[in-house]
Amino acid sequence: MKLLIINGPNLNLTGKRQPEIYGSRSFESFFEVLESGYASKGCGIQYFQSNSEGEIIDRLHKAGYGDEGFDGIVINPGAYSHYSLAIADAIAAIPLPVVEVHISNVAAREAERRKTVTGAACVAVVAGLGLFGYEAAVEWFVQSRNI
Ligand code: DQA
Repeated sequence: MKLLIINGPNLNLTGKRQPEIYGSRSFESFFEVLESGYASKGCGIQYFQSNSEGEIIDRLHKAGYGDEGFDGIVINPGAYSHYSLAIADAIAAIPLPVVEVHISNVAAREAERRKTVTGAACVAVVAGLGLFGYEAAVEWFVQSRNI
């Protein structure tokens, strides 16, 4: 099993920005532990982060139609979740299951954050579990695909 995690804008600052909302651990330090834990179970996880909508769309296309052999994608499109029909279209356009993750519980935040247009194109949305949400999504792929 091979999975790709895609993080959108400002998620490179996780651990530094608004720690009361997003926690104080960097995504990189979390990813290191996640990646090595799942590697030993035979599940490879790659990580891509971009602050640009077009780069996120290009990465989705490449993962979906290239020869990297991904089985699924875990994505946190950041603020793009709430308005990017272009990323939603890219998710719908690729033949891979995509699970959306939000560190915070977007359903309990400002009205603009309660709707996720990209989440509507995904198999599922996990929100409010902190960084553990990424692990929950990865574990769902592993269990449902039986690596
Ligand atoms: C976020 C929630 C978004 O509303 C916000 O713009 C982010 C992070 C989350 O992970 O909780 O950048 O996607």
